[in-house]
This record gives sequence, structure tokens and C-alpha cells, in this order.
Amino acid sequence: MISGNKKNKLPLLEVRNLSFSWGGKTGLPALKSCSFSITKPGLWMIVGRNGSGKSTLFRLISGMLEPHTGEIFSRLKPALMFQNPDHQLLLPTCASDLLLSIPTSLPNETRQRRIQIVLEQVGLMGMESRPIHTLSGGQKQRLALAGALASDANLLLLDEPTALLDPQSQIKVLDIVKSLCNRKNNPITAIWITHRLQELEHCEGAAIMEKGQVGAWHSGLLLKKFLKPLAGRVV
Ligand SMILES: Nc1ncnc2c1ncn2[C@@H]1O[C@H](COP(=O)(O)OP(=O)(O)O)[C@@H](O)[C@H]1O
Ligand SMILES: [Mg+2]
Repeated sequence: MISGNKKNKLPLLEVRNLSFSWGGKTGLPALKSCSFSITKPGLWMIVGRNGSGKSTLFRLISGMLEPHTGEIFSRLKPALMFQNPDHQLLLPTCASDLLLSIPTSLPNETRQRRIQIVLEQVGLMGMESRPIHTLSGGQKQRLALAGALASDANLLLLDEPTALLDPQSQIKVLDIVKSLCNRKNNPITAIWITHRLQELEHCEGAAIMEKGQVGAWHSGLLLKKFLKPLAGRVV
């Protein structure tokens, strides 16, 4: 039994010596004894060149894949968000899609109310019956975010969520995630994979992923300054 004090000192997420190879235990490792932890809610960013293992790491944290060795300790409920929202929005309208994320055990009224609340949280209020194909890319990404919130997730794993968005929609998505991470009541934890160095200015901490390992957390500004001269080579 963990006492209250001790429990508060446990990380929210701890990844310890995680290894995984897509080709089975004897294949080339995508993750190689990867370790890091997150101790408080907020927006945490990871940068790294293609093939460094970022998406594989997210699949392991979300439980889609089992590690070959190592452990993941988490006190949070994860939700994975992809670069292309079309890969995760399934039903024709905003409300019908969101309903998929809300437990059917809840009374209908509660489920409908939750749809309203999460749409409001992502700036899509009143869009319950909007057909999804009429939404812009940024709105679709925000709807995917609403789906994660509707499922009660409090660990968002965002895999280059703004890569396909225009600058305005990019800023909007970033602002919404930041406000969810900074809110007083039940702030969420988000890990955001980015290729855009300017996004690093907005995070609580940022780390480089290289050859299947996540490095130490630094301030986003510091990492941006360090990476800028190398842009195109490191990230
Ligand atoms: N579905 C897959 N099947 C086989 N190999 C994969 C798969 N996904 C990723 N890999 C391999 O795992 C390694 C890490 O890839 P990935 O996690 O996608 O990196 P990143 O997201 O940083 O680009 C790469 O060598 C890649 O080729
Ligand atoms: Mg990837």
C-alpha cells in the first residue's frame, strides 16, 4: 500500500529500459534500453530524426505493442493521436464519432452532455451534427482531441499532430493542448512529437530521441537554440 506522500512522489509516467524490435527479439531494435520519466502534468515535446523510434515508443506507451524487455509504469490513461486525423475519425458526424469514445454504461443524457463539454473544450461548440467531411484539417484534429478527452484520457500521445496543418490551425491546436495542460482542474499530460522547432518554445520540457533512446529533458527554448543550426541534419 502506497502512502499519500509517497504516491505523490511517484512519476506520472516512467519508462524503464524499454526495448523493442519490429522483426521480433532478434531483429534490429527500434527501441534500445529506452528510459525516461515525466513527473508532472504539462506539455512535453520529443524531437528526433525519422526512424529514431518515436512512433514505436508511442505504440508501446499506449499499449498497442508489448515491449520485449523493460517496463512502463503509468498513473495516466493514454490516448494516441496521429498526424492524419482521417486515420482515427470513423463515423459521419462529430457527435456520432465522439459517442464511440464514451462508455455506453453511462446514461444517455450524461453522454450527450459530455459531447457538448468536450466540443467546447476544443473550440467546436455547437458542431454536434456537422458532417465530418465538411471540417477543415485543423477542425478534424481538434475533433480527434475531443475524442481523447471524451474517453477520459489524461495522457495525450500526439504524433506530429500539426504536420499536415496550415500555420493558423497549427497554432490553434497547440494553444488548445497547452490550455488543457495548464488548467487548474485536472491538468493533462501531453507528449508531443514535433519536427517544427518553433513549437519547442511552448513546452514544459523537450528531449531528443536518437537511435531508440530518449535523452534528458531540457527547456524547449534551449533545445531549439541548440538544434536550429543543425536543422535538416538532426531533426
Ligand atoms: N510497422 C512497422 N513494421 C516494421 N518496422 C517498423 C514499423 N514501424 C516502424 N518500423 C521500424 O522501426 C524503426 C523506428 O521507426 P519509428 O518508430 O516509426 O520512428 P520515427 O517515428 O521516429 O520515425 C525504423 O527502423 C522503422 O523502419
Ligand atoms: Mg513517426
